[in-house]
Amino acid sequence: MGRAVKRIVYDERQIAARVKELGGQITSGYADGDLLVLGLLKGSFIFLSDLVRQIRRPLQVDFLVAASYGDNTFSSGNVRLLYDPETELRGKHILLVEDIVDTGKTLNRLMDLLKARNPRSLEICALLHKHVAQELKYPTKFVGFDAPNEFLVGYGLDHAENFRHIPYIASLQ
Ligand code: IMP
Ligand code: MG
Repeated sequence: MGRAVKRIVYDERQIAARVKELGGQITSGYADGDLLVLGLLKGSFIFLSDLVRQIRRPLQVDFLVAASYGDNTFSSGNVRLLYDPETELRGKHILLVEDIVDTGKTLNRLMDLLKARNPRSLEICALLHKHVAQELKYPTKFVGFDAPNEFLVGYGLDHAENFRHIPYIASLQ
């Protein structure tokens, strides 16, 4: 697989237990209204599929695919949606699901964009948070793990598109 994993940071049992807890928090966090769980691809695909099965209330699932630009390329807010959810966001509770918060730049831009569509509420659920994000303007209401400041792969997270299928989360050599 190219680079080798250094150590397992969160194993399958730890992840499953934490995802179950998060599902419980989300279930009790939304007493009423329509809930749309919005996964940011590709990194959130495994987390999202496990998470929604631990949420015990009606919900809908959709995805976002975002492309970021460097500073030289013009785009509105430097983030462009390659796939935009089909579903109407207005009036719904939107839960944006992300694999990992690093600098927070991606989330800032996406949250600005989603907020403009007048959802009833807009919150972030991140599997991992490195807590180095100086730039994130929005609170992360639901966080799986406070992650070490290492490069992590597995359970959806990649290094150059590899390692996404590994069932645990590991740091790279
Ligand atoms: P941010 O905009 O700097 O917060 O970047 C977040 C994105 O960078 C995540 O959605 C990941 O795709 C990627 N990323 C940041 N840190 C890691 C890591 O440790 N492993 C894998 N991907 C990461
Ligand atoms: Mg990535």
